[in-house]
Amino acid sequence: MNTFVTLSSGQKMPMVGLGTWKSAPGQVKQAVLAAIDCGYRHIDCAAAYGNEQEVGEALALRVGPGKDLLREELFVTSKLWNTKHDPEDVEEACRTSLAHLGLTYLDLYLMHWPMAFQRGKELMPRWEDGSIRYSDTHYRHTWTAMEKLVDKGLVKSIGLSNFNARQTDDIISVARHKPVINQVECHPFLSQADLLSHCRSVAVCVTAYSPLGSGDRPWASSDEPSVLNDPQLGAIAQRYQKTAAQVIVRWHVQRGVVCIPKSVMPSRIQQNLQVFDFSLSEDDMKLIESLNRNKRFIVPSIERHGKKVWRDAE
Ligand code: A2P
Repeated sequence: MNTFVTLSSGQKMPMVGLGTWKSAPGQVKQAVLAAIDCGYRHIDCAAAYGNEQEVGEALALRVGPGKDLLREELFVTSKLWNTKHDPEDVEEACRTSLAHLGLTYLDLYLMHWPMAFQRGKELMPRWEDGSIRYSDTHYRHTWTAMEKLVDKGLVKSIGLSNFNARQTDDIISVARHKPVINQVECHPFLSQADLLSHCRSVAVCVTAYSPLGSGDRPWASSDEPSVLNDPQLGAIAQRYQKTAAQVIVRWHVQRGVVCIPKSVMPSRIQQNLQVFDFSLSEDDMKLIESLNRNKRFIVPSIERHGKKVWRDAE
């Protein structure tokens, strides 16, 4: 059971998908199999996660003629990494993701970040002092190259990730193929209300990454608040006889946000999809909204190097 949003391209996208960021090689194949077997029809991937080949191994077991699912029953997203923004690199990067996933097309291909890094094989190219090596390629030029992927049938639609409102409008103003999605960090401590209403007004759906607050982010520190352990969310969960994770996923869905909780544990993967047999009252929706503290857990490294080339609250 799932519900869908209809994208501006006309595609139907399942509102709950499996997130694969941080799912280690050795774990992600089983996670994808568990997800498909319990009813997930949406898998969120990215070249930068370094595990698309293993996701592909799982898809090969479940998707295709004579298998459990037809390709068109599954919604698969991947993302173009920052080192591949040069228009000359875009098609090859997309074809590499397709080859790793074992697919002939993607349902959605996102520009992972609005800024480009130095071209090449290194994921995070750096100067000798450790700071990131940017490139001057503008995301508008990258977008034009991504549009050709739609023309060639390699991807059904294209979208954005980590774009602020101004950058989203900037893309829309030059786009031949409009962005259908903006995927951003979003959870009860970072509700993104302004960006959400802006995206809605320009027919761009929002997908929440780190929808549960990303407790397993590699740089997590114990003095930061934990979304999943928030006492108010715990109290709400108890009243509905659900877990905090289920209440959060339900909150995303009820406010019209697609979400992609990551787990590698079959019981949690299943639990995170069991959110269509209850609904949160208006008061509880408001209460969860009030937990917002504009807390960003996924701060891009560019800010840590003091260069303000990205802001999503502008
Ligand atoms: P695990 O993979 O061990 O299940 P996010 O999606 O916000 O990035 O959050 C992912 C984190 O939340 C991971 O640490 C994941 O752990 C954990 N997680 C996912 N689903 C649940 C759940 N239903 N209950 C508790 N923790 C969960």
